[in-house]
Amino acid sequence: MLKNKKTVFFCKECGYESSKWMGQCPGCKAWNSFTEETVVQPKAHSGGSTLRPAQEPVILNKVSFSEEMRRTSGIGELDRVLGGGIVPGSLVLVGGDPGIGKSTLLLQVCRNLAASDVSVLYISGEESVRQIRMRADRIGTFTDRMELLCETNLQSIRGIIEKKKPQIVVIDSIQTMYDEEVGTAPGSVSQVRESTNVLMQLAKGLGVMIFIVGHVTKEGNVAGPRVLEHMVDTVLYFEGDRYASYRILRSVKNRFGSTNEIGVFEMGNEGLSEVANPSEYLLSGRPENASGSVVACSMNGTRPILVEIQALVCQSNLGIPRRTTVGTDFNRVNLLMAVLERKAGLALGSSDAYVNIAGGMKMSEPAIDLGICLAIASSYRDIVIPDSVMVFGEVGLSGEIRAVGMADQRVSEARKLGFSTVILPEVCRSSVKHPEGIRLEYVSHIRDAIRLLRN
Ligand code: TYD
Ligand code: MG
Repeated sequence: MLKNKKTVFFCKECGYESSKWMGQCPGCKAWNSFTEETVVQPKAHSGGSTLRPAQEPVILNKVSFSEEMRRTSGIGELDRVLGGGIVPGSLVLVGGDPGIGKSTLLLQVCRNLAASDVSVLYISGEESVRQIRMRADRIGTFTDRMELLCETNLQSIRGIIEKKKPQIVVIDSIQTMYDEEVGTAPGSVSQVRESTNVLMQLAKGLGVMIFIVGHVTKEGNVAGPRVLEHMVDTVLYFEGDRYASYRILRSVKNRFGSTNEIGVFEMGNEGLSEVANPSEYLLSGRPENASGSVVACSMNGTRPILVEIQALVCQSNLGIPRRTTVGTDFNRVNLLMAVLERKAGLALGSSDAYVNIAGGMKMSEPAIDLGICLAIASSYRDIVIPDSVMVFGEVGLSGEIRAVGMADQRVSEARKLGFSTVILPEVCRSSVKHPEGIRLEYVSHIRDAIRLLRN
């Protein structure tokens, strides 16, 4: 019996496996993330894939599939992030910090699906049926197609899913599920992996669509959702400031659609509601006639999003000037400041600089470079950039403004939101198909862009 057992160490952040303990994980570079677990060799498992009959190869062209097989979740922003709707037989991981609204979102999806006569089973290992009912009452009325189950034993769950054959299953959360055969505590890396494995077999075998909730944990012995990222079809992360009311659902992996797509929601008293026009939402409350502020555009999947970039540059009292960034890459801002110093003649060497993407959004696309540069220049020179100006473009190390993709969509979004001028790279001139109705200022060097500020 002992032969089948061995002790291994897992990184609870990313699932890296090692035979000895390590202080830092070589996979994800997290410190002190290894936990010791006893794993049972697969031989000791009963059942499993070996008992299934071998599959015959089929001709690719004879496999029937149509886009209509996708089902809408009744929430447009979620459908967009999923790549156009729910795919039967897929396994979707919804990760996020505790309390961000994962259970609320999935309960709303269940409500919509149950209302369109889809059988839904919501399995919770965290809350009692009464607690779920309380939350459900805030969200709205449910039809009888929606069933609840409070269970954490995976073999019982498997039995019930196989018997009832629901079309949609929600597992809330994967860290509370356990399989007796694994023999470690719920939430350990091997439990989380094995449970996901069982769920995947159910999803593919029965064609049920399964949503898995995974908490992002900061400490303790609980494995994070990254451990199962490679096993599922789609990985969505729910982000946002717990104190701000809006939330962003981001897809980081999607076998059935594009990644990097985002959906924006607002948490209210009756659950989450969609924010159909995030740019408008993010730009509301912008200061008027203030220097150091400019609107930039970043593409998120297929959608352009306009955000306000703020910069504050002031004389430093310290030997080494202080630089702080919120919502964007720190090193990138330092690089852009060096470019501004050498190529545009701004003496920033002894200035403190603070750069902030307003509204708590995180942006890393190089297309916001020009926005960051102009916000810094505007604050340094104390020149106001008019509210009606939007900018985009990548800035290179020689100060050149480089091309970015989808220039036409960005210009259209600016026009739609009532901007009158767009500052964009010269090299994008040919890709703007509809230049009418808006003033376009093409620039090829950062110096030219800063010169525009004076006029
Ligand atoms: P929840 O879905 O329980 O988070 P998770 O499952 O990710 O841990 O979200 C809980 C938070 O949302 C909690 O702070 C209360 C808040 N909330 C509202 O503000 N309005 C609502 O209608 C609901 C249902 C929750
Ligand atoms: Mg929850």
